[in-house]
Amino acid sequence: MTSTASAALPALTCQRGAFQLPRDAHYFNCAYMGPLPRVSERAGVEALTRKRLPTSIVAPDDFWDADKLRALFSQLVNVGDPNRIAVQPGVSYAVATAARNLQVEASQNIVLTHEQFPGNVYSWHRLATESGAELRVVKPPEAAGRGAAWNERLLEAIDASTAVVAVPQVHWTDGTLFDLVEVGRRCREVGAALVVDATQSVGAMPFDVEAVQPDVLTCATYKWLLGPYSLSLAYFGPRFNDGVPLEETWIARNNSEDFQNLVDYQDAYQEGAVRYDVSERANFFLLPIAAASLELLLEWKPERIQEYCAELTREMLVEAGELGYSVERERWRSSHLFGLRMPEGVDLASLKQTLAERNVSASLRGSALRLAPNVYNDLDDVDALMGVLREAVS
Ligand SMILES: Cc1ncc(COP(=O)(O)O)c(C=O)c1O
Repeated sequence: MTSTASAALPALTCQRGAFQLPRDAHYFNCAYMGPLPRVSERAGVEALTRKRLPTSIVAPDDFWDADKLRALFSQLVNVGDPNRIAVQPGVSYAVATAARNLQVEASQNIVLTHEQFPGNVYSWHRLATESGAELRVVKPPEAAGRGAAWNERLLEAIDASTAVVAVPQVHWTDGTLFDLVEVGRRCREVGAALVVDATQSVGAMPFDVEAVQPDVLTCATYKWLLGPYSLSLAYFGPRFNDGVPLEETWIARNNSEDFQNLVDYQDAYQEGAVRYDVSERANFFLLPIAAASLELLLEWKPERIQEYCAELTREMLVEAGELGYSVERERWRSSHLFGLRMPEGVDLASLKQTLAERNVSASLRGSALRLAPNVYNDLDDVDALMGVLREAVS
């Protein structure tokens, strides 16, 4: 899914200056949490100070700042109508909304990938228990060609009895890439709903809603969207036009901008996915931070971030390969998130300790090291990481 939008743009250079990471912090852990860019921090501080004087927060205009966020996110993931985006507090919230509104019968199945992040799992466990439907968890093989074979198995698992396919774009533990255009096509063939948690990819990797045609795409903002915690954005497709929200926030009802007449109760919701907004969605502290970060990402462009991470790590991965480390083929993994498998004999406890001593931040997931670089990383960071990897096998 490469976009041509960046074809005319020069390659992205290191953007460390846009952040406040100390020089000796070698942060390869955006999959855990993204650092806040300087502009977003400034937007947040400014937002905080506005509440010193409540009259500086203007009703109803400021209550509609959420619409700016919808528009920015729509641009990022190629959604034509910003009202298809709901402002929510987390991935689990979007998935619970989806599960509440999907009819699943005992004869049907729900397809998930193995060891998926729990935010896109527990609601399906509940729905399967309550409906009697089968949960189909698709495992990868442990052989060579793991990514390609995992994708094949995923497509094979989707059949005429599939009601829901709940998957990520890239796996949160090792960056395995799922071909969602193909998954989307297969879902439409059998009439299954496609619910995508793209928290570990959107922002750093292109996602095209028009190409994938998911029914739900949800994304927490505190990782690759470089935004705040407790905020997520979710696209809901036409399948959810008449659904029931988890809560009945008044702000999502028709005419809610008319503050004088709020007790003229309205049965109808606003259009699209607005009905799925969380209550008090007009979070005056968090929304400006998220908007500033989205503006930055739109300027940098996800495809250029992906290229930047690929270039930054290319030589390092060649050397790591020579030392016995292994990584999934480029076609089946992301460049901003991938798992480095250890050669025989590496002591994980001492590797962990050396990483901490050298201020190299990355997560051990099972026996693989999850590396999650971003535009603030540079060759100094890569050198620090390589130093640890060399020592671990010496
Ligand atoms: C893939 C993925 N989805 C979602 C989340 C967060 O889920 P929630 O917003 O429900 O807390 C994380 C956090 O690590 C994640 O890795």
